[in-house]
Amino acid sequence: MKLAIFVSGGGSNARTIIDRFQANPEYGVEVVLLVSNKAKASALMMAAERDVPTLVVKRNSFYESEELLADLEAFKVDFIALAGFLWLIPPYLVRAFPNRMLNIHPALLPAYGGKGMYGANVHKAVKANGELESGITIHYVNEAYDEGDYVFQAAVRLDPEDTPEKIAKRVLRLEHGNYWRVLRQLAAPPQK
Ligand code: GRF
Repeated sequence: MKLAIFVSGGGSNARTIIDRFQANPEYGVEVVLLVSNKAKASALMMAAERDVPTLVVKRNSFYESEELLADLEAFKVDFIALAGFLWLIPPYLVRAFPNRMLNIHPALLPAYGGKGMYGANVHKAVKANGELESGITIHYVNEAYDEGDYVFQAAVRLDPEDTPEKIAKRVLRLEHGNYWRVLRQLAAPPQK
């Protein structure tokens, strides 16, 4: 199975996924492309260092053309993992990857999801509400933010003293431990 990862920033999830699948080719997942909507995303260098081809998409071509589909086809991509990719996925792309595109969200959806709920905003809101639990949700991608079917959730207990930064760290650790596993399970289930 050939996987493309879409990012907008640091790409720590992308790094974890690439490293895991490169170290374990028997899992049957090959990361063949990293797509970024930011030319300066540090994930681009991280991917290049690992010999993963990279592509930067521009807003107008992403939304007003379907050029990206040709690139995905050229790399024979059959599954997409969004990992901190902040643009809404346009309908043509959702249609081209039905149930073959996952996103990871740093909260227990449906709480703390939707437009504007990303990155530090999520953890600040969790803290502001005095939540004693947060977590992660991995879900299929449809045309609305954070609304596709959930495939995996995991929770983490919070300490009332936790700062939003500390919550972010704990949640990210949970993401790193689980995203690759869920991708492997759904995209390239082990043969029985
Ligand atoms: C993660 O918290 C993910 O849940 C969210 O964006 C963040 C990306 O972090 N969608 P990174 O770029 O993988 O470090």
